[in-house]
Amino acid sequence: MINKPKGCYDIYGENAKKWQYVNKLIDSLMEKYNYNYIRTPIFESSELFHRGIGETADVVTKETYDFKDRADRNMTLRPEGTAGIVRSYIENKMYGDANQPIKLYYNGTMYRYERPQSGRDREFTQFGVEVLGTNDPMIDAEVISIPVVLLSMLGLKDIKVKINSLGDKESRDNYRKALLEYFRPHIKELCEDCNDRLEKNPLRILDCKIDKDNPLLKDAPKTIDYLNEESKKRFDEVKSYLDELGIDYEEDYRIVRGLDYYNHTVFEIEANVEGFGSNNVLAGGGRYNALVNTLGGPETACIGFACGIGRIIQALDLEKIQLPIIENIEVFVMYVSPTEKKYATSLVQYLRAAGFRVDTEYTGRSLKAQFKQADRLNSKFLIILNDEDLKNDEIKIKNNKTKKEELVGLDYLIYYLDENLADEEYEIESNISCDDECHDKCTNGGHDEEI
Ligand code: HAM
Repeated sequence: MINKPKGCYDIYGENAKKWQYVNKLIDSLMEKYNYNYIRTPIFESSELFHRGIGETADVVTKETYDFKDRADRNMTLRPEGTAGIVRSYIENKMYGDANQPIKLYYNGTMYRYERPQSGRDREFTQFGVEVLGTNDPMIDAEVISIPVVLLSMLGLKDIKVKINSLGDKESRDNYRKALLEYFRPHIKELCEDCNDRLEKNPLRILDCKIDKDNPLLKDAPKTIDYLNEESKKRFDEVKSYLDELGIDYEEDYRIVRGLDYYNHTVFEIEANVEGFGSNNVLAGGGRYNALVNTLGGPETACIGFACGIGRIIQALDLEKIQLPIIENIEVFVMYVSPTEKKYATSLVQYLRAAGFRVDTEYTGRSLKAQFKQADRLNSKFLIILNDEDLKNDEIKIKNNKTKKEELVGLDYLIYYLDENLADEEYEIESNISCDDECHDKCTNGGHDEEI
């Protein structure tokens, strides 16, 4: 037997329904926020990630899936979405659009060669947004609000929004110097990688996976003490817009993020879910005002975030949150004779075209076994075809709950189903409920959204 690669997953069955639900919710939410869908290649030239994410980030130094294509070009499976989107923004000259800022969202697989563990996969799916072309602090708050609203719409209540600012270039440089001075005398107490990071980028020591519990890291200089006046003012403005949106947050001066492109606002959203373990960050992002320029485009202020859909589903499972997933069909069409089967083929097509959720028999089951199959599919109505009825243009239809059977004229079938399904209490109760405060945060105006 050939097994799937380590750290990868097959998503199927009940689990796949949850994924589809979350994906549809994302699409509907993004429509409300007026963000446009973008799809970029799963692999890009390796140079993009080296220049974009940075030469000192673990994601690039240790975790990329690199390969040479048949023309000997260096390629890399994307470890994240931002660099590819910035490449696309520059290549497609989106900065020239009259419609600014460019607000984009994506939902796709990413690849990192990590040590597989709960919440840390080698193939994982990120939903993310990128806003390119504005430095207004108002958009920072809007971007942070997106995962907050998404998670609360899904019913995840105990989440923590942590924000920080790395400031502008001057602030970052001052902070870098302070870290260098702080770590230099103690560097031998840290791992080999951190020794390497010291001169190249001491910020990376702060998100070292090996030394993460070393007290030296906990007592390290804090970003906030190195922000210049302008950066502090900007950070205050972002916070005031978050207050305006009613989003609770905690300032955490230790958040520096694991990718090199950030400046000013950075944030992470943690789930406080029992049993989650240490990989409980559901979403992370921040501002990256220099990246477009680094990759050859014009100076462009940008901000974005990404969240791991696998981690979100894991949190929903641990919290035992039932998503309002449709678990039934409306009609199961049954038959025995070859002429009934032929009739079933077109009837199923006709009913589906009329908008009903319909299935039929494909494996030659007996009529008795077809009843069982209809029950397995949780069908609301059964159509039991019979050559005699068909001669009279009639159809036998059975309500699978009340067991009431009726002969219905063909012309009347759609009307009959419409009427009776409307009477049925088949609306699945939404588990998504919220208090007033949460409701105010849900800018789409409610939770009982059709998606
Ligand atoms: P990131 O923090 O590397 O940021 O990843 C964002 C989210 O993706 C994480 O919070 C986590 O939920 C999920 N994630 C990351 N790695 C894994 C993994 N190995 N297995 C499962 N889930 C994972 C970025 O990727 C940035 N591009 C975000 C961004 C967009 N910043 C600005 N714009």
